[in-house]
Parts: sequence; C-alpha cells; structure tokens
Amino acid sequence: MKRIPHSEEAITTIHDPEDYYQRHKEKAVKRFRPFLKWLIKTKRCGEYLDVGSGPGILAVLLAQSISDIQITLVEPDLQMIQIGKRHIKEAGVEKKVRFAQGPGENRDLMASLGKFDLAYSTYSLHHWKQPVEVLKSIYESIRENGMAVVFDLKRVWWMYYYPSKTGFINSIRAAYTKKELKHMLKQAGIERYQIVTPFPWLWHLIVVEK
Ligand SMILES: C[S@@+](CC[C@H](N)C(=O)[O-])C[C@H]1O[C@@H](n2cnc3c(N)ncnc32)[C@H](O)[C@@H]1O
Repeated sequence: MKRIPHSEEAITTIHDPEDYYQRHKEKAVKRFRPFLKWLIKTKRCGEYLDVGSGPGILAVLLAQSISDIQITLVEPDLQMIQIGKRHIKEAGVEKKVRFAQGPGENRDLMASLGKFDLAYSTYSLHHWKQPVEVLKSIYESIRENGMAVVFDLKRVWWMYYYPSKTGFINSIRAAYTKKELKHMLKQAGIERYQIVTPFPWLWHLIVVEK
C-alpha cells in the first residue's frame, strides 16, 4: 500500500478554494468531531496556532465557542486566506483570529509568531512537502506545558483500494500510516507523544506534550 502523494502542481493541491470553503463549512462539526472531542477534554484556552488552516472554518467555530482564545492561522495559499478573512469578518470574530501567510516548513515565519498554549493542524499533514520540518516548527511553537495535536486522515487499505478518484480517496492514499508517523516524529526529535486512532479508524490524532 504505497503512499501516493498529491500532485505537485499547486502548493495546496486544492484547485478551487472557494468551492472547498462552500463544501466544507456546512459539514464542519461532523468533519472535526474527533478533534473537537479531544479538544473539549483538554479544556485549554489561551493562544492557539492553526497550521494549514485553509479558510479557517475550524478557527471560526472555535472563536465562536470559546471566549478566552486568540488564534493564529498559518496558511500558504493566498486565496484561502482571502476567503478566510471574509468569512471571519462575517462571523464577527476578527479580533480573535489573525492569518500569517506561508508554509509550516518556514521556520523563521513560525518562530516569528510567538509561543502558543495549543498548536493544532487538521487535514493538512498529508499535503506537507517536508512533514518533519513542519512537526519541528510546531513543536518549537508551543510553550512549556503546551500541547500540539495534528489531526489527519490515515492510509487504510479498505479505502486505499476503493475504485474511486475522489478527493477524499486520493487524500487517504496520500495520508500516512502509524508506522510512518512514528518515524517522522522520531526524525523531528519529538519523544513525548501519543497517537490516537478514533473510531472508525480513518484518522489519527498525534498528541504532543511539552
Ligand atoms: C485539506 S486543507 C485543510 C484545511 C483546514 N485545516 C481544514 O481542516 O479544513 C489543507 C490545507 O493545508 C494547506 N497546506 C498545504 N501545504 C502546507 C504546508 N506546507 N504548510 C502549511 N499548510 C499547508 C493547504 O494550503 C490547505 O489549505
């Protein structure tokens, strides 16, 4: 079950960010449920970092539901950021959310953003060109006693071989196995972590504590 990365032609490999936003905002709670369940349990507020935020659908949900947070979104794609800014303004949470443009591999950019109580990323890891570098940046961005959680799809055989070329199935083929994640975390020098695989085993949550 060889990993099949997304094609190289765009930074994001999402060809139509507006379409992405429209399709995903309606089903946000369902899409993020395993992540939200985990987040509620941690009871963390303060400063959050969202890496590979896309148009910030999750950040808006969080900013609307948690009073005491500020969220910095890191996103390389300008169009995603433009759509996100509009959405954030419409939701009235622009005082709690800010964007920084660039990839998570940009260690200088990431270091310039400060330190965070919680760094997270959702459905983005399988897009990163240098995942080990992004994991290092994320780890460095959290404060002492801070936490990071990287939530993404898992490459599972029953979806991998499904005869379809939809974005979702292609993302499953581009996603990582637990063994690969462990190897990456080792390369990134991250030792204190857990990999949780919630039912129905289509995702992983890498939970890192400092
Ligand atoms: C499938 S979208 C997920 C967006 C959002 N996190 C969500 O859950 O809806 C993947 C996002 O990762 C971003 N991305 C791709 N490569 C990246 C990188 N190296 N660093 C940070 N973000 C990246 C893409 O631009 C895209 O917005």
